[in-house]
Amino acid sequence: MEFTTDVFSQYDKKWALLTAGNIEKFNTMTISWGGFGTLWNKPVATVYVRNSRYTHEFLDNNEFFTVSFYPDEHKKILSVLGSKSGREMDKIHESGLTAKECGDSVTFEEAEVTFVCRKLMRQPLEIKYMLVDIAYQFYDREAPHDMYIGEIVDIIK
Ligand SMILES: Cc1cc2nc3c(=O)[nH]c(=O)nc-3n(C[C@H](O)[C@H](O)[C@H](O)COP(=O)(O)O)c2cc1C
Repeated sequence: MEFTTDVFSQYDKKWALLTAGNIEKFNTMTISWGGFGTLWNKPVATVYVRNSRYTHEFLDNNEFFTVSFYPDEHKKILSVLGSKSGREMDKIHESGLTAKECGDSVTFEEAEVTFVCRKLMRQPLEIKYMLVDIAYQFYDREAPHDMYIGEIVDIIK
C-alpha cells in the first residue's frame, strides 16, 4: 500500500466522499475534515461526522467505510453530495457517479484513489475537552461531531 500526498491539503482542498454500506444499500457524503496517521501500530484514516448526517447511520451499521478522492472537475458533484441528504432524495443517482463494490464497502468508478477502512472506533468529540473558542465557533447550536477511526486495509487507485 503506497500513497504520497500533502496531508494538510488532501481533505481540506480536494474534499472527499465518505461512503458506507453495501452495494445494495449505501450512502455517501462530502467531507473536508479528516486525517491520515498511525494508531495502535496500524495505518489509519480519521473522519468527523455529525450525527445528523444520514451517512452516520451507515457508518454505525457497517464494519467498513471508504474515503475516496476525485479529480477537480468533479468538485460540483461533491458540492451537491455535501449539501443534499440521501435521506431526502436519491442524490447518488442524480450525481451521475457510478457506484462499485470495493472490498466489503462501496466507492465510485470516478475516484482517483479510494481508501478502504475497517472501523476501529467511534468517539464523540467532547466540548469539555475543547478550547472554548472552538466550542463556541463550531458547537454553539449543534452537537459535536463523532470521530471515526478506520484501519486502512487497502488503497485502490
Ligand atoms: C466541502 C464540504 C465538506 C464537508 N465536510 C463535512 C465533514 O467533514 N463532516 C460532516 O459531518 N459534514 C460535512 N459536510 C456536510 C455533509 O456533506 C452534508 O451535510 C451532507 O448533505 C450529508 O449527507 P447525508 O445526510 O446524505 O449523509 C461537508 C459539506 C461540504 C460541501
